[in-house]
Amino acid sequence: MTQDELKQAVARAAIEHVPAGVIGVGTGSTANYFIDELAKIKGRIDGAVASSEATAQRLKSHGIQVLDLNSAGELAVYVDGADEITEHMHMIKGGGGALTREKIVAACSRKFVCIADGSKLVGMLGNFPLPVEVIPMAQSYVARELVKLGGQPMLRQGFTTDNGNIILDVHGLQIMNPVELETQINQITGVVTNGLFARRPADVLLLGTSEGVRTLQA
Ligand code: A5P
Repeated sequence: MTQDELKQAVARAAIEHVPAGVIGVGTGSTANYFIDELAKIKGRIDGAVASSEATAQRLKSHGIQVLDLNSAGELAVYVDGADEITEHMHMIKGGGGALTREKIVAACSRKFVCIADGSKLVGMLGNFPLPVEVIPMAQSYVARELVKLGGQPMLRQGFTTDNGNIILDVHGLQIMNPVELETQINQITGVVTNGLFARRPADVLLLGTSEGVRTLQA
């Protein structure tokens, strides 16, 4: 099976985790396949909260109502992909730059269902550069602080987040303690948030493999 077929398989499997009501929807190519599956059962839900402008557009193009998070309240489930995930359900996210809104919607959701092809499962996080969303005027200061933490930050060229900020992609990290590093980076003045999802990990991982979709629980 190709990587895209694996992504489609987990997107299909995630539909079983969709209850009636309003759900949270992530960003990226795997989340896009999920939106396409969601369109087939859209009569069963009241709408969705989007984690990015791109996701909102795709949901709307399928005729799925997009709701504001502040009026939606707590969500039963959030479905999203990951750039890396461990068996402890800690993730690196933000390859698409939507990490802050993703983290907000995830925080408001009772259950986080991560959908990923098998290549995303890793023993230790950090091979994928860790995205950090930064207020533009703090770019140099935050970069210096990230170097002190052992990383090599690189500005994501020509990219602005949905919130009007920049992304520093931090290379060279071997993340032994994701909860601690997530907290430490978020303490740096000028950081909006970072792409470690460890304090609020996934609850369920649907992993696409050539033998079928594996379900891993926290
Ligand atoms: C978007 O900002 C990311 O967090 C994505 O969820 C993550 O990069 C996974 O993307 P793919 O499904 O495209 O691999």
